[in-house]
This record gives sequence, structure tokens and C-alpha cells, in this order.
Amino acid sequence: MKVPYQIQNLEQYHRNYQKSIENPHEFWGDVATHFDWHEPWNSVVNSDFSNAKTTWYEGAKLNITENCIDRHLEERGQQAAIIFEPNDPQKPSQTLTYQELYDRVAEFATVLTNIGIQQGDRVCIYMGMIPELAIAVLACARIGAIHSVIFGGFSAQSIADRVIDAEASCIITCDGAYRGNKEIPLKPVVDQALKLCDTVSEVVVFKHTGSKIEMSPGRDLWWHEQVNEIREAGIPWEDPASVDAEHPLFILYTSGSTGKPKGVVHTTAGYMVWANYTFVNVFQYQSNQVHFCTADIGWITGHSYILYGPLSAGATTLMFEGIPTWPDAGRFWDICQKHSVDILYTAPTAIRSLMVFGDAPLEGKNLSRLKVLGTVGEPINEEAWHWYNEKVGNKNAPVVDTWWQTETGGVMISNLAGITPAKPSYATLPLPGILPALMDENGNLIQGNSVSGNLCIAKPWPGMIRTTYGDHQRCIDTYFSAYQGYYFTGDGCLRDENGFYRITGRVDDVLNVSGHRIGTAEVENAINMNPQVVESAVVGYPHDIKGQGIYAYVILNKEVTDDEAATTLRVQILETVTQVIGPIAKPDRIQFVSGLPKTRSGKIMRRILRKIAEGELQNLGDTTTLLDPLIVDSIIKGKL
Ligand code: WTA
Repeated sequence: MKVPYQIQNLEQYHRNYQKSIENPHEFWGDVATHFDWHEPWNSVVNSDFSNAKTTWYEGAKLNITENCIDRHLEERGQQAAIIFEPNDPQKPSQTLTYQELYDRVAEFATVLTNIGIQQGDRVCIYMGMIPELAIAVLACARIGAIHSVIFGGFSAQSIADRVIDAEASCIITCDGAYRGNKEIPLKPVVDQALKLCDTVSEVVVFKHTGSKIEMSPGRDLWWHEQVNEIREAGIPWEDPASVDAEHPLFILYTSGSTGKPKGVVHTTAGYMVWANYTFVNVFQYQSNQVHFCTADIGWITGHSYILYGPLSAGATTLMFEGIPTWPDAGRFWDICQKHSVDILYTAPTAIRSLMVFGDAPLEGKNLSRLKVLGTVGEPINEEAWHWYNEKVGNKNAPVVDTWWQTETGGVMISNLAGITPAKPSYATLPLPGILPALMDENGNLIQGNSVSGNLCIAKPWPGMIRTTYGDHQRCIDTYFSAYQGYYFTGDGCLRDENGFYRITGRVDDVLNVSGHRIGTAEVENAINMNPQVVESAVVGYPHDIKGQGIYAYVILNKEVTDDEAATTLRVQILETVTQVIGPIAKPDRIQFVSGLPKTRSGKIMRRILRKIAEGELQNLGDTTTLLDPLIVDSIIKGKL
């Protein structure tokens, strides 16, 4: 069956785009009629950017898991909903049909209700990339509990911060996870986190690795025992909750310019429509295709394009537990061949890390099924774009460069595979409903083409952020205050002579390391926790594989003179960062300095530090306003 709102050609794209901007009520009202609702909406969209208040499909009631599972049962009950490829290629893969997914989700939703979780309760999920993670997420959505998935690489402290902020009452986890040749403990990290917070009364633990863990009686519950309990007691499965269109579906924490991650809140109906609409249009999904998104469900890409987008479209979605380079750099290609993958969606960092191994890992791999290739999360350089297009796609599979953010819920600017033109390193054109605007430093709108500025969005779209959990003012301040009447993305952008958009990177103090967003302030806070550190400043610098690397300038309370002491201290700082945030935030370079370039008012001149880290030592700009201009020379001398 063709999806009626799937764009078929360039002319139709332009027509739909036009209509979506001129008459969003009718446009998004029409799209929404193709979903299952319990009650219809009273109005399609109401929006007031000055207060960061937007609602979509107000008055409607629905359950998103009925749209992702139940409604497909008749036609696709026996089709694979989820294919699970384990970390170890020697172990068998698993398939959950739509019928099996239905059974497991409905059953686990009943477990959650049985242990006392109610609609609106916050449930944190800290698991590896296994099918039970998908089941846990969907089971929360089924009963109207708000899920907050925490990436499995985050530390105990990061879990505690998120649990406290969301006042979560339950954590779902597993004993451990596999990643390449490593076994990663998860439950022990949760145990540590729970020493730092006190709102959690239940921890549900899925047994995956079988490693020995401690279970705290009265608090910790085995997943399988809970399932058995409701089976044995013959407790009937819970009906899916009927929630309001604007009922929060999930919280996902993401980094900003301050030290404290913010809980981006997405609500049910608008997010569902946006995840689905963007999935079927950007990837030009066709019935029965296998979609392989290599992201982790701990990030927004996994939420929207492993789970809600593909499942709402009745697709087969592939979940991979491992990493691209283990047991060898042909792992992705083996998976694509083995499961006849049609759509591959990955990050430029993964592409660059595989390019390093040359073409050999691709040889002999049958990738002829691949129809669409996607990238996300960071700018893609032309070299990586061409390698992906030529070596992986054999120039037969359009590459879509999708620009979006945790806050946008789904893809905002991207070519539509095979429908609208691609241009290497450009995200190209906005999706229907998306009106981009470029702003100059003074807050003026930049008109015309061949220009660049700060990227804003001028109109509401269904998948937009609704609030930052527990602090709506922060949402207003962060996104809707820099430019009155616009949502500000935090990204710099250029618009070429044809009106194609190219995202150039963050213009705020947020780094993008291997496609992961990391706030410089968060890393600085972590470094400063080391007792020997007085102050630090963190900036990004270009990194061949990771896109950006982390460069830390650190002032110590006493000078270290010998190399050995310096090395020990660096190791200690890295350990602190790992403990406070997680290994993804570890600086690549740590330079000990005697001072930082500050203005007379005490503000660190990051621009100068960035240039030094980039190795651009000539044009440092005006340094005369610095409190101590000589400090710059001493930093340059010690550059790593
Ligand atoms: C960056 C990931 C260039 C951008 C979905 C954005 C990109 C941040 C692209 C959001 C792209 C994402 N080209 N840059 N195609 N996609 N970005 O919230 O800086 O983890 O603001 O969402 O990643 O990262 P987030």
C-alpha cells in the first residue's frame, strides 16, 4: 500500500511545501487522518512562540503504540517488526514479528501497571541495544508513562542527575551489555546512581549477559519473574491508555551551553505524525523494506528512526547491539548483506572511521539491496560523502544528509531520497512545514541567497520541543528569546545560490563529538572537580574522524614540572570526566596553562582558545582588550 502523503516527485514536493506553509491546518490535518485516534482534534495547531507554547491536534486522544503496533497486526502480523543483530556475530539474530512485538509490549505494559506505574509517572531506562529496550520504551508509552532513556555510556552521576530532574520513580535496566570485545556493566552503575538520589522505588532488571549482580530486596525486580507472575496469576493485559494529544511521551536530556543537561519534552500526537511523516518521505520508505539505523536508542535518532518512525510506518527496523569495527571493519556490511537491508542510516563519524580501513572490508559484500543511505548528527565532509555514495551505495542509492536536533523531534532539512536533488555536504531543502530563517548578529533577518547566518525556524511544526522538563522558562530563554518570534537552533548555516542549506556547526558553546552533543560547561565542571584543578576552559577543534575533538586548557593549583606527574594528572582528569559524565566527554588533549585569556570583566575569550586549538596561531584577532595579553603567548608556547 502506498502512503498517501508520500511525496512522489520534485514538482509535488514544491506543491506540498507551498501548501504546508500557506495552510498548515489543512495540510497537517490531512496527514493526521491516516493515523488511529480515539477522539478527533478540535484544532490542528495553536502556537505562541513568545511563551514557547505550541499545541498540535489539541483535544484529540490516542495511543501511540496502537499506531506503531496494533494497527499493523491484520496486514503485517507475521512480518518482522524488529530484527535484532547481537554484538557477537556468532550468536543468532532474533526476529520479533508485529504480533510478537504486540504480545511482548502489551504484557510488559501490564507488568509496569502491576508494579504500580501510572500514567504520567517518569520511568528511566538504562539498557543496552537489545529488543527489551524497545519493549520497555513502548510499554511505557502504552500505559502513558513518560520514558526517559539514558544512553548506556553515561555515568552513575549522569543517571542520578536525570533521575532527580525528572523525579523518576522507576528504572528499567539490564545486568550488562556487550560492546565489541567488552562487557559493560549497567545494573552496577544504576546501583551507584541510586546512592545519589532517592525518588526511585522500583528497579526492573532484564537478564542479558548473565553476569553476577546484586539485587536489593524490595526494590529490585527481575523482568522475567515479573512477567511470570502476571502469567501465572492470569492477569489480563492492560488496555492501551487513551492519552491527550499533548500528553508528554518522553523526556530526553541533551546538552546546552550551561553545565546542566536539559530535559527536552516531546508530546504524543505531533511527535508521532512528525516521526512518521519524515521517515516515509526522507527515506522514501516502501512497504516491506528493512531499515537499519545504527544510532543508539539513547539518542533522539534512535527514538525517531529505530522506533517511532519505522514502526508507525509498519516497517522492519533493525537493532544492532555492537560497534562498526568489531570483530572487523566489515561488520556493517555483513549485517546489510545478512538481513537484506534496504535503508542504512548512520553518522559521518562512523563513515569516516570505516574509510580509514580502505575498501577491503567492502569487497565481496553484497550490498545490492541498499536503496537509500542516510547521514545524521554532524556535518559530513565531501570526501566522506563521496566514499559513502560510491563505495557503499555504488552510486545507486541516493545519500540523504539529514539535519535536525533532539528538540526538533525529526528531520527538518534534508533531500528526499531520489526525489529532490542531493548536494554533497548540504542538507539542501526544508521539509514541508519547515520555514528556515537566517539571522545576522544584530537579530535582523537575512534575505536572499548566497548568504549565511544563524539558523532559526519561523513557524511551528508538529515535532517541535514543547518544554524543558520542570523549567519552562529555560525553554523560552534557550530557544525563543534570541530572536523574537523564531525558534533558534544554535547552528550556523549558509544558503547557497539555489536556496540549498548547509549547516556549518554550532554557534554556541556546544561541541559535536562523533555526532554526540556535549556542552563545554559540562566538561569544564567535571574537570574542575579534580582537587588539583583551579579552573579550565574547553573548546572544540577539527578532528579527522570525530568531526570535533575536545581540547581542554587547565590551570592547576601548583605547577607540575616533570612529565610523569603531568601524565598521571591527565589520567586522573580523564577518570574524573568519565565518572562525572561518561567516556564520550573525555578531552582528547589537556594542556596545563598558567592562566586563561580573559577580558577585564573576567569573561574567557574562547575565540582565542579555539584558534590556538585549531593551530591557527596567526590571526588571533584583537587581544588588546585582554586583562593580560601576555598569557596568549605562553599558551601558544605550550600548545600540544
Ligand atoms: C548537528 C541529532 C550538520 C547540529 C539528530 C545540530 C548536523 C546537532 C546534522 C543536534 C547534519 C545534526 N549536518 N550538522 N545533517 N544533523 N547536526 O540533538 O549541530 O544530538 O544542532 O540531534 O547536531 O544534535 P542532536
